[in-house]
Amino acid sequence: MSDAIAHPEQVVLVVDFGAQYAQLIARRVRECNVYSEIISHDLSAAEIMAKRPAALVLSGGPKSVHVEGAPRLDPDIFDLGVPILGICYGAQLIAHQLGGTVGRNDRGEYGRTTLARDGDGGQLLGAMPDEWTVWMSHFDAITAAPEGFVDIATSANSPVAVLEHPERRIYGVQHHPEVKHSEYGQDLLRRFLIDLAGCEPTWTMASVIEESVVAIRHQIGENGRAICGLSGGVDSAVAAALVHKAIGHRLTCVYVDTGLMRQGESDQVVETFRRSQGIELIHVRAAERFFEHLVGVTEPETKRRVIGEQFIRAFERAKGGIADAHFLVQGTLYPDVIESGTESAARIKSHHNVGGLPEDLDFSLVEPLRNLFKDEVRSVGAELGLPDDIVWRQPFPGPGLGVRIVGEVTPETVAILQQADAIVRSEIIDAGLDRDVWQYFAILADIRSVGVMGDERTYARPIIIRAVTSDDAMTADWARLPYDLLEKLSNRIINEVDGVNRVAYDITSKPPGTIEWE
Ligand code: XMP
Repeated sequence: MSDAIAHPEQVVLVVDFGAQYAQLIARRVRECNVYSEIISHDLSAAEIMAKRPAALVLSGGPKSVHVEGAPRLDPDIFDLGVPILGICYGAQLIAHQLGGTVGRNDRGEYGRTTLARDGDGGQLLGAMPDEWTVWMSHFDAITAAPEGFVDIATSANSPVAVLEHPERRIYGVQHHPEVKHSEYGQDLLRRFLIDLAGCEPTWTMASVIEESVVAIRHQIGENGRAICGLSGGVDSAVAAALVHKAIGHRLTCVYVDTGLMRQGESDQVVETFRRSQGIELIHVRAAERFFEHLVGVTEPETKRRVIGEQFIRAFERAKGGIADAHFLVQGTLYPDVIESGTESAARIKSHHNVGGLPEDLDFSLVEPLRNLFKDEVRSVGAELGLPDDIVWRQPFPGPGLGVRIVGEVTPETVAILQQADAIVRSEIIDAGLDRDVWQYFAILADIRSVGVMGDERTYARPIIIRAVTSDDAMTADWARLPYDLLEKLSNRIINEVDGVNRVAYDITSKPPGTIEWE
């Protein structure tokens, strides 16, 4: 594992009781300029103390505290003297484990609810108005606070909606302050973190860069050399720029032209990195070799494996020119680490590069973005002076267009997809929607259907347009693109791209679909 990641001195640990909540909370904590990490709920008090947290935030979760096997905290954690904020399930757990009562309600509380302060609102709610709207999602509710706790707010179906023990600095809220629909959510988190737990709001992108540069220099050493594979995406670009800042010309980037890139992408990558950023760059033209190995390959996981292997081999050949490079820079992000690292999570696709490298790979990994979320990576990129079209580039999968062609990947199918994809991209940018939509691209399906063009029967392939909104790619919703735009896309693709006679729009969210088709 890489050690080129900066670990700020002050960390808030977000205890995970249900993955989706924990990630969002961790991001909101960071938006208060306080560094946060997610930990599993089964860590002991001693293991938590070893991380010297400035505060703990207990996340929400899908279980009831009353069901068998519901996750609990090591009870000693409440006596560590570390300030604790419990959210939803986390708050119920505080009540349940410290002697209060969590009851079943007649009905739960889902969606927007009014929260009303009791009396002066205690420490946590000091500056809040008397009433405000919050977002709730629970069935059970705290009905009696544990001894020593005060109950400082209520809502229609939460008799104890906010509770606190000021001396022990333990707080609980039934609602979800991390969700944008909760008014004053960020204020409440800031109140807890900065005013009550005493965290310093010092974690900024400038500090991330500064600390990462030190960590990278430390890992690579005075004379070590590194190589970085540029995929054309924002993650590898920012990782490269960060490592370049740390070790300058001792970094060589390798751009493997797999033949599976988007239209015009190879030229743009070479231009940006070699000319604008002054980074040493080896441009490997490997398309032919990729296509040779992809002949007859249609099964998605096999395809990913073949592409992955060829990528590494192309890399190793390029490495011949810089034989003394022992470090490989990768743009692995925090959600990749969480998604790949949870033992219970089922393997959906072998995508993320974490752990996906062949065992005989002879490099030490440098992963400077391993602690960052995507939006933070973009901010780091902007701070490092990367151009907007790289920083705001939509995510692009490692295996490139290979996983957007259902069926065999050939120079012909890639050419069709590239043309259609270029149309989708340019129209969405022209419509001014590129920053609202998380990813937007075309897929080529391995089926044919009958059509008619200019009195002639056609029998050709369909292009499927995929456009999704998302915050982090863990979940996604299909983008409600305007009909006029869809019409334009359909017309242009069918008129301009040979071999396509039908356009469909994918209206599947994730889950149950994934963003990519393979
Ligand atoms: P799925 O298709 O699983 O994708 O919903 C989630 C996000 O990951 C991207 N993706 C990849 N990224 N290497 C990557 O670095 C890969 O092999 C890969 N496959 C999918 C995908 O574009 C989406 O943003």
